[in-house]
Amino acid sequence: MGKKAVVTGWGKCVPPVALTNADLERLCETDNDWIVERTGIHSRRISHVEGTDLAELAGRRALASAGLEPEDLDLILVATCTPEILCPSVAAMIQERLGAVNAAAFDLNAACSGFVYSTANVTGMIESGFAERVLVIGVEKLHIAMDYRDRSTCILFGDGAGATVYEATDADAGVLSVDIGADGSKGHTMVVQAMGTKGDPYWGKPPEETRLYFEGQAVFKIAVQGIAASAARALERAGLTAEDVDLVIPHQANARIIDAAARRLDIESERVFMNIQDLGNTAAASIPMAISDAADAGRLKPGDVVLLTAFGGGITWGSIVMKWGDRVESVGVHEGELPATDATVWDLLESNLEFYAPLHEDQPPVRR
Ligand SMILES: CC(C)(COP(=O)(O)OP(=O)(O)OC[C@H]1O[C@@H](n2cnc3c(N)ncnc32)[C@H](O)[C@@H]1OP(=O)(O)O)[C@@H](O)C(=O)NCCC(=O)NCCS
Repeated sequence: MGKKAVVTGWGKCVPPVALTNADLERLCETDNDWIVERTGIHSRRISHVEGTDLAELAGRRALASAGLEPEDLDLILVATCTPEILCPSVAAMIQERLGAVNAAAFDLNAACSGFVYSTANVTGMIESGFAERVLVIGVEKLHIAMDYRDRSTCILFGDGAGATVYEATDADAGVLSVDIGADGSKGHTMVVQAMGTKGDPYWGKPPEETRLYFEGQAVFKIAVQGIAASAARALERAGLTAEDVDLVIPHQANARIIDAAARRLDIESERVFMNIQDLGNTAAASIPMAISDAADAGRLKPGDVVLLTAFGGGITWGSIVMKWGDRVESVGVHEGELPATDATVWDLLESNLEFYAPLHEDQPPVRR
């Protein structure tokens, strides 16, 4: 039997400044009850540093968790749709910061499906013998693309980073099957036109063209159907059924989407991991952050069958079925922290609110 790709390390980096539902009530016509009932989200994070800083810390934590040194890595793969700049890639910047001198590095953009797509790539590379130890990081600084006076989009998204180390193994563990797909004809249902979160992220474009746009109900339906169908295909490829799954770790888009997809798969909520309440939708970062939280919370046991499933802009989707390895605790802990900040959420959102203000001259002013 050939090598498989197994998770051996996990970590995350959650920026400290929160944007709560109460804060959003001051920004647009919404209320806490509506947001909680429709999405399951209570709070999301707004980063005071670049996404690359979040990614670096999540990556260092995952490496410590795996007990590896940066020189051990063959590849660093970063899933993101909000890179700091376009070139060099976030992955190349992380390679330099970590001193991972033996690692290749590239970014991958499949929006919220980015971590699943990355895992699919890594699985192929490990199974073919091209790589043995890989750091995959999902990171987003999505607040740049949010118009916080547009209640239909701004309630969902947050910033953060999660990281996972995959290693080659001969053991009876690791990725069992992969399903990834896309339908570009539905790409118009979710669009962000701006490029790069550093400096002037808006590239001289008018505000109506840079804010994240989506057709909420259309995306909702595509998501529920897409996740359930993709997960079913991945399970079939692994020769398993929904009954065999110990834990689903889905992309944290909306609690109702997750619940509806799980119902279609006939998987009860006890077997579905959710941490959306405090983090919101962090796109490519959501699954690796959830893996990290699930592992740290003792939700993953040796040999557990784990189903990762996601959908996102593109439209893209993907699912991974894997068997968790023997180790359920981190080998080590990286003690580093993000630089401290005194900034309030209002400080961090100031330029954003100013940029989008021309679209909301008819609305009452923001109540800070
Ligand atoms: C955005 C989303 C939460 C909206 O939930 P929904 O149940 O579909 O709500 P609707 O869009 O049908 O809106 C229902 C009503 O609530 C209102 N509403 C919308 N946002 C609101 C808010 N933040 N607060 C209060 N009311 C709101 C609407 O205007 C509408 O009012 P109306 O009936 O008077 O027209 C949901 O569609 C969703 O999560 N879609 C998927 C988006 C997503 O996950 N994208 C990223 C994918 S990775």
